[in-house]
Amino acid sequence: MNNRKYPVKRGNEYEFKIEKLAFGGFGVARIDNYVVFIKNAIPGDIVSARITKRKPSFAEARLLSIVQPSKIRIESDCSYFSYCGGCTWQNMSYKNQLDFKRDIVQESIERLAGIEYCEVAPVVESDSVFAYRNKMEFSFSDNRWLLPQELGNMNISKDFALGLHVPGTFDKILHIENCMLQSETANKILLYVSNYAKEKKLQPYGIRSHKGFLRFLMLRESSDNGKIMVNIITAFEDRESLKPLADELMEKFPQIAGVVNNINSKLAQIAIGEYEILLAGDSFIQEKLVGMYFNISANSFFQTNTFQAEKLYEFVLKFANLQSNEIVWDLYSGTGTIGLFLAKKAKKVIGFEVVESAVEDAYKNAKEHKVKNIDFIAGDLLYKLQDAAPKPDVLITDPPRSGMHEKVTRHINEIKPKRIIYVSCNPTTLARDLKILSSNYQIEKIQPIDMFPQTYHIETVVKLKLK
Ligand SMILES: C[S@@+](CC[C@H](N)C(=O)[O-])C[C@H]1O[C@@H](n2cnc3c(N)ncnc32)[C@H](O)[C@@H]1O
Repeated sequence: MNNRKYPVKRGNEYEFKIEKLAFGGFGVARIDNYVVFIKNAIPGDIVSARITKRKPSFAEARLLSIVQPSKIRIESDCSYFSYCGGCTWQNMSYKNQLDFKRDIVQESIERLAGIEYCEVAPVVESDSVFAYRNKMEFSFSDNRWLLPQELGNMNISKDFALGLHVPGTFDKILHIENCMLQSETANKILLYVSNYAKEKKLQPYGIRSHKGFLRFLMLRESSDNGKIMVNIITAFEDRESLKPLADELMEKFPQIAGVVNNINSKLAQIAIGEYEILLAGDSFIQEKLVGMYFNISANSFFQTNTFQAEKLYEFVLKFANLQSNEIVWDLYSGTGTIGLFLAKKAKKVIGFEVVESAVEDAYKNAKEHKVKNIDFIAGDLLYKLQDAAPKPDVLITDPPRSGMHEKVTRHINEIKPKRIIYVSCNPTTLARDLKILSSNYQIEKIQPIDMFPQTYHIETVVKLKLK
């Protein structure tokens, strides 16, 4: 390997000045034109970092120390900050976060979609910058990661944790007793479940050993009526162990609507079960969005920041510019929220969604709102779009982080809806997909909306018009 090609060497330590931020929360430094990405460093910092990965066009480095802190650095109020992978931007003011998010969207689209100049509107800010999440998912583990102040404390046993992942490790969990992104009641429930499990010696699941019972705790809270769904995901069924916990929770917390148990016996670390048992109360909560009520069950996708989702949907409606005679396709429709919202202004809406329970929820929601001009197609839309009819005049797409499958994007290019509204939670895959669509479509509007304060995540709505 020719070392002269690279200004840095793997394993060596260097000092870097951080210029800007990239998606993923990386600080970006440059040596000539060679880019180095450093996690947890922010613009203006001078840091010492060790090169962990070296590629022809970029390198990654691990932050060792901050030699001179940036003027924009602030103290975080969270005791887990800098150890927890949850919100890594608590070291910047909210105003700075918004400016960086806009830059990231702009740069991703210009660089990755090959669009020379694109105008990105200022980010729509979130009214709440903490306790804004209506859903949190915590992992149980038999391998607790200790904070520096916990090291050497003999009262802490390392074989139980309920919390969030330590970045860069797949099996180490930071035990969390108070997460600033969820409500006070949700935090009390988290602590209650954790203490109960420890006291009753319910075994946490080992991510390495694949042994143990408790896998995840998911809490979902309605921002409309404050009701909470508790979903305990376990590796196997053991109703007798969980039923007393469910009954206690219902008694202690009147806000809890129901406790469900999802069973995931597979190796994959996901909080979705093969089947669900209702332990107490109801198996759903009701959420209100854009004036409509939605029943949400444990495994259905629902926007995690309800107030910001309202603003997002208003942009989708505005950009769709419906005149009541259009066929609308709602790709990746979840519980049908966007489609139901648009149906009153469209001739017909067809939603496409892979999760069966979400489609069931979507039909229930349509019935409850007496919306008759909407249908949902269950299944992987990669195989469902081809034969779907009638073809759309307006297409809404809201894919997961991985973006759209290339074949799906190319199919959209072929069927040529007049307008596409692309809702994205990942500027990188958005830019990749826009590059394909740009052969037939012109970008008219790019509107970022901040659904996730304190994190590098950013939602973007793009309006595309057929050329
Ligand atoms: C970002 S969510 C959007 C949900 C919805 N539009 C909303 O606003 O609530 C993405 C949705 O795509 C679904 N999904 C993921 N991959 C899919 C696929 N290949 N085919 C169909 N649906 C898929 C997920 O289950 C999830 O409900």
